[in-house]
Amino acid sequence: MIKHLLSGADLDAETATLILDTAAEMATLAGREVKKLPTLRGRTVVNLFYEDSTRTRISFEAAAKRLSADVINFSAKGSSVSKGESLKDTALTLQAMGADAVVIRHPASGAPHRLANWIDGSVVNAGDGTHEHPTQALLDAYTMRSRLGRLAGLHVAVVGDVLHSRVARSNVLLLSTLGAKVTLVGPPTLIPVDIATALAPGVQVSYDLDAVLPTADVVMMLRVQRERMADSYFPSAREYARRYGLDAPRMRRLAEHAIVMHPGPMNRGMEIAAEVADSPRSTIVEQVANGVSVRMAVLYLLLGGRGAGAAQ
Ligand code: NCD
Repeated sequence: MIKHLLSGADLDAETATLILDTAAEMATLAGREVKKLPTLRGRTVVNLFYEDSTRTRISFEAAAKRLSADVINFSAKGSSVSKGESLKDTALTLQAMGADAVVIRHPASGAPHRLANWIDGSVVNAGDGTHEHPTQALLDAYTMRSRLGRLAGLHVAVVGDVLHSRVARSNVLLLSTLGAKVTLVGPPTLIPVDIATALAPGVQVSYDLDAVLPTADVVMMLRVQRERMADSYFPSAREYARRYGLDAPRMRRLAEHAIVMHPGPMNRGMEIAAEVADSPRSTIVEQVANGVSVRMAVLYLLLGGRGAGAAQ
């Protein structure tokens, strides 16, 4: 098993499948009255969040607690980070406290990789800048597999602000490893020119959403990340929604079995219409629930668990 989970590229097909299968076992726990396993009793998991987060942070906390780990939540606001303490000094503090795993979200791409060099415990990347978010890709793969029964051969359209999306990058890497076919769709200004070749051979790029929809098994809508946009990448929100938003008429172009995903938080009415987000095709709430099982599996396996029989 790998020690750290920093990138979708850290996962070969066998490891990724082990995580998804272990997550499926963890999910059986959610239906029980007592949703707790003793597996990580006495181990310490630190959640180190330098950037805002709702879902990911709560999800990692719930995952660690369901495995009986001691959980320390650290947020940059209200800590010595606001007094200018560096990531390295914070890392040394965590090391001194004996953290077995550190889950880090940071606005700088590469911060989790640096951290992994400074501490003995496992490091899990919970989103670094515009770079990667591997546990999101795992929970997305888990959701596709549980809805559609397989990953190999699926056609996944990843739509919108690819440029700023760590979710897109990690998904492209993991889905390619697991045999799915990915098409990145969006305005040319929001798709880096070399992304397809740089990340994984075989990834397609299209600027025409309507042309891609009929052959997609999965449509993954991305949030337009205005907070990361210094320039203007499209004429107006209305124009963006008209060309790249998934609304009800567009949804009708999809195959009957196709699903609609979004990592959240959503800009309802911009990249996704409310009636699409709330439709039976949408897996948005399932993704959140699956996130807990997947992160339980990741923590369990990184910290020395063996997979089969995890939830017994
Ligand atoms: C994503 C993130 O933070 O990268 N959200 C998430 O983790 N659920 C996507 C986003 O912010 O748009």
